[in-house]
This record gives sequence, structure tokens and C-alpha cells, in this order.
Amino acid sequence: MARLSPLLCTLLLVTIASVLGFTVPTKINYTWPNPQYDALEKLLYEGTRLDGLSLSDSVSGCKSRDGQEGRGTGNVAAEWVRFAFHDAITHNIDDGTGGIDGSLFHELDRDENRGQGMKDTSADFLKFAGRFVSRADIVAMGAIFGMSSCGGQNILPYGGGRVDAQKAGRCGVPVVEQSVDQFTEAFRHLGLNSSQAIALTVCGHALGGVRSVDFPNIVPPSSDPHQVIYRNFDTTPQFDSRVVTEYLDGTTQNPLVVNANQTVTSDKRLFESDGGAAMRVFQNAGDRGFKIACREAYRVMINTIPAGVSLHQIDILPAKVIEPQITIENGELIFKVDLRLTQNLTQPVPLDRTITLKWCDKRGSQSDCNGRVNTAQFAARSQPTQTPVTDQLGLSFYSYAFRVAIDIQTSVGKFWFVVDNNDGNSPTTYNNGGANYDFQQDSIIFLPRMSQTKNAGKTLHKMVVGVRIPLVSTRVYMKTYEVAKSNTEQPQEKSTTLSLDGTIPPQKGYAFFSGDVSANLLGLTIDIGVDTLDQSYKEEYLNARVLGCQAGIIAPTTVSTA
Ligand code: HEM
Ligand SMILES: *[C@@H]1O[C@H](CO)[C@@H](O)[C@H](O)[C@H]1NC(C)=O
Ligand SMILES: *[C@@H]1O[C@H](CO)[C@@H](O)[C@H](O)[C@H]1NC(C)=O
Ligand SMILES: *[C@@H]1O[C@H](CO)[C@@H](O)[C@H](O)[C@H]1NC(C)=O
Ligand SMILES: *[C@@H]1O[C@H](CO)[C@@H](O)[C@H](O)[C@H]1NC(C)=O
Repeated sequence: MARLSPLLCTLLLVTIASVLGFTVPTKINYTWPNPQYDALEKLLYEGTRLDGLSLSDSVSGCKSRDGQEGRGTGNVAAEWVRFAFHDAITHNIDDGTGGIDGSLFHELDRDENRGQGMKDTSADFLKFAGRFVSRADIVAMGAIFGMSSCGGQNILPYGGGRVDAQKAGRCGVPVVEQSVDQFTEAFRHLGLNSSQAIALTVCGHALGGVRSVDFPNIVPPSSDPHQVIYRNFDTTPQFDSRVVTEYLDGTTQNPLVVNANQTVTSDKRLFESDGGAAMRVFQNAGDRGFKIACREAYRVMINTIPAGVSLHQIDILPAKVIEPQITIENGELIFKVDLRLTQNLTQPVPLDRTITLKWCDKRGSQSDCNGRVNTAQFAARSQPTQTPVTDQLGLSFYSYAFRVAIDIQTSVGKFWFVVDNNDGNSPTTYNNGGANYDFQQDSIIFLPRMSQTKNAGKTLHKMVVGVRIPLVSTRVYMKTYEVAKSNTEQPQEKSTTLSLDGTIPPQKGYAFFSGDVSANLLGLTIDIGVDTLDQSYKEEYLNARVLGCQAGIIAPTTVSTA
């Protein structure tokens, strides 16, 4: 903050403590396993949900909608930022309710939330919410993706843990026809005073514009009924201070400033309301000062949440263990795990890198590394992946896939990794902060390659799990968590009992249980579990792949011991 002029600090929301509904994320020390952290970290930095579908791709490069008939070419980042604003502004500073809580998903039929951009945004976001990622967390992330994609400053650190409202909240989004007093009252509810209200609105209207299809009273429609006119607030689609400079130099075409109908010129009324003082402070701050100020303003907006909700800081993990699992492929029992490493974009990729996966036997005479440590090298390296957020951090990701054949008599207990770039520096050990990755799975395992989709509509699946012999089960089950089907529905959770499958003979120390599950596999996550007379074993939050005999198996590497 030291680089900002005192004037800018005064105007803006930088005096953050004075904004009451605003929550500062708390830091936590990450240790694996932490599925909620993993899920949020993946969505924020890789831009994807567990099955790899990308959210950030929809916005990266400051993309526009494809302009399907009657819908126009709205700027996606702008739509996502406006969505966050409309969710946030119905916070009520007087009683601590509302804020970024996803209530907007239940409020889209209100006139104050009019617009194709809102509907498209809710559809973008809906399929990424799941067991560990709330819609509200995605709404906040949307503003971060939007800023990062269009040349704004990134709003990190991000806090996750917002809780979704199950119904509509109060009304109160400002609309263009209102008076400055009404705007002031609307923003007071958010915890902002009149200068902060101007600041947030200018920052909002640095992106996007107004559509004739939604606001024909603001942007007159074209005579061609198939065409949607989308009038930008300034002359660039990027996030920059043009909205300010064009306003002050009189060239602005912002339809909320320059309009034949004075009823709809809400930006003009608001920007003039302090005699233009806020706009001049912004101009004096320059483009960079504007961006920093807006970053702080947006930070307040996305961290305004209902009282009682807390946020945990989601930092990028330098080394992340991805989906460790035991399964059967090609008749072999294998242990699969990926290690994701961050790569500094200014540094050369260490092509001579060796990464050693090390693990202890889980049982047998040499369990717990008593006289024996197993080791293996990675079998494949991924292409680098980048998103708007990692681009801004100057990082990309490489994932290294480990595939090793194991024996159930010894199985896999704790594991860890040693990364040696063979560049003269000493190797780095990634061992979960010293505790190693303590792998519990093997009493019950999921078998994507024995599971099959049974109908053409891809809605009915035979799901197969293996239960380790000699466990005597009293119940074997699978819980499925489907992506919500509409804005007002919650994600569906179902439990299915699996029974011993006589068609699959026991092998590799496992007996096989199966059952029919009807679910859309896209975005589906599952838990599997087995109860025995004296114990229960559970594996949670697995990606519900149904691979049958599809190709694409990575051959296992050799295991050595020391
Ligand atoms: C007095 C306050 C405000 C009024 C009356 C207002 C009104 C409007 C209207 C009528 C539109 C056109 C929407 C469309 O055609 O789909 C719009 C767009 C937009 N507003 Fe505001 N707004 C206000 C404050 C804000 C604030 C505080 C933010 C965010 C921080 C914001 C962010 C946006 C964005 C990003 C767009 C562009 C959306 C797009 O291109 O799809 N607005 N606003
Ligand atoms: C709004 O709040 C900021 C931060 O506390 C303050 O510096 C500024 O003077 C206030 N503006 C008005 C108009 O009260
Ligand atoms: C995280 O771990 C560090 C080092 O062990 C410790 O100093 C710090 O207090 C811990 N922070 C939290 C929030 O637990
Ligand atoms: C101006 O806009 C207002 C509010 O949308 C509308 O009621 C009115 O009819 C418009 N006036 C003209 C002349 O178009
Ligand atoms: C990447 O490396 C450069 C040069 O060593 C360094 O200045 C920068 O801080 C590094 N970036 C990250 C994100 O670690």
C-alpha cells in the first residue's frame, strides 16, 4: 500500500478494517489429505474441477461469448464480475446477513438481476460446485479469473469456505433509474460510504457494457432483430483506466453517462455526485494506481460474506499429490499417483530431473520401512498447464505420473517423493511436512476399468469395487454426488448398496462387488465404503471414472527396494 498516494488510500477501500462485512482469510498449514483445500486449489490455480473440465478456459484471454443468435457477444470476465457484485450488494451491514453467498442463483428472475450475462454466468458456474466447492466460492473466484484474464491485478490471496444460501436473500441491487441517495443507501448496506461506492462502480464499469436485448431503454436495439448491440463502457475490452480518462476528457461513450434518456445515466449521476473528486483521484493515480485500487475494492467485494462464515487462505501448493489410488489395470494390481510440481516460467525446465517415489510396505514383516524402502521413477510427464492466474504468478504446472505394480500382501503404506533436478543443487524431499503421505486406501478400491456404462444415454453404470480378502463385509456401498441440475436445486447425493459380483472371480487379493448406479458421470464424485463386523473403511471424493476397456493405460515402471 505504501506506493499508493495518501489521497488514493483515503478514497479507496484500502482502509479495509473500516469495511464491516469484510472477512480476512485465515492462513492454515496445509497437510495432505485435505480434500476441500485440494478442490479449491485445483479450481483456482488449474482452473478445473476434479475430472479436468475447465472453468477458467471460458474466460482466459478476456474472451467474449460466441454471439449465438439473440444473445450477443458479452465479455465473459465482465459478466462474472457483475455477477459477483450482484451477489455481494445484498449484504446487510445492519444484521450481518447476505453478501457473497450464492443467493443470486435463487434471485435471477428479479428485474434488478436482469440480463443474459447473468443467466450465462450461472450456467458457467453451476457445474463446478460440488461437495467441497460452494457456488459462493466460485462466484468469488469468477472475479479473480475475470481480472486476471483481462489485464487487471490478481486479487490473491484467495479465501475459500463460503457457505451457500439455500434460498433468495433480500432485494437491493441498484438500478439505473434510481437517485444518488438510493445508490448511497444500497452501498451502505454493503458497508461502503459514498466515495467507496463511486470507486467500486468505476472499477466495475472498467469491463464490459450494456446489451440492447436486456436494456433497450439504455441501448436502443438494432433494426435487425437478430442482432444484439453491446455498447462498452469504454473503448477497450481490457481492464484499464479508460473508463476514467474517457469520462474526464469528454470522449466517453459509456451509455450510463452519455444517453438521450437522462433517466438511465446512473454513472453520470454517481460520478458527478462528489463534484468529480473521486474520478480525478483515479486519474492522478494512473493506470497502475487504478488497477491496484480496484484490486483492493474487489477484494472487499468478494470477501463480504454473512456473519459467522470464515475463510481459509488457499495458496498454490509447490508440490501436490494428486489422486493416489490402488486399482487393477490389465490384470495387475497397481498403485497410481501423480505429483504436480510448479515451474517458474523464467527458469529452464529441468529436463534431467529424476523424481523418486518412495514408500513403505503397509503390512508384512517389513512394514513401515522396517528394513525395506520401495522406490520407483515416474512413468510419464504431462504437458505444462497454465491458466490466467498462474500466468500472473509466473508459474506453470508439470505433473509426473507414477504407476507401479504392487502385491496386496505388502501393499502401500506411507509414501513420499525426492526430486533431484541433477543441476548440482541438493534434491528436495516432499514428505507432507515431515509426516509423509499416509495412504489408507486398499481395504476398498474403485475399479474404473471393470466398471461399465450400460445404456446409450450414458446414465446407467455398473460400478465395481474391490474389497480386500479376507475382510468379511456386512455392507459395501457407493455414494454418488452429482452436479446440480439447475440454479435452485442442490447437488444430488445418493447411496447404492453393492453386492458380491459372481461374474468376476476374485483376483489379486480382492473380491468384487458391483451395483447399478444411475447418474450423469460428468463432474460426478463418489465415496466408497465397506463395513465389517468390527470396522468401517471409507474412501472419499474419488473421480467417478468409468473406463471399461478404453485404451490409455500408462505401463507401470520397475519397483526397486533398498
Ligand atoms: C449504481 C450502481 C450500478 C448500476 C446502476 C449499474 C448498472 C449496470 C447496468 C444496467 C449494466 C448493463 C448490464 C447488461 O447489459 O447486461 C451494468 C453492467 C456492468 N456492471 Fe454495473 N452498475 C452499478 C454498479 C456496478 C458495480 C459496483 C460493479 C462491480 C464492481 C458493476 C459491474 C458491472 C459490470 C462488470 C458490467 C458489465 C457486464 C457485462 O458486460 O456483461 N456495476 N451495470
Ligand atoms: C469513506 O471511507 C474512507 C475510509 O474510511 C474515508 O477515508 C473517506 O473519507 C470516506 N468518504 C466519505 C465521503 O465519507
Ligand atoms: C504453520 O507452521 C509454522 C511452522 O511450523 C508455524 O510457525 C506456524 O505457526 C503454523 N501456522 C499455523 C496457522 O498453524
Ligand atoms: C427513459 O428511461 C425510462 C426508464 O427506463 C423509461 O421509463 C422512459 O420511458 C424512457 N424515456 C424515453 C423518452 O425513452
Ligand atoms: C521465478 O524466478 C525469478 C528469478 O529467479 C524470481 O525472481 C521470481 O521470484 C520467481 N517467481 C516465483 C513465482 O517464484
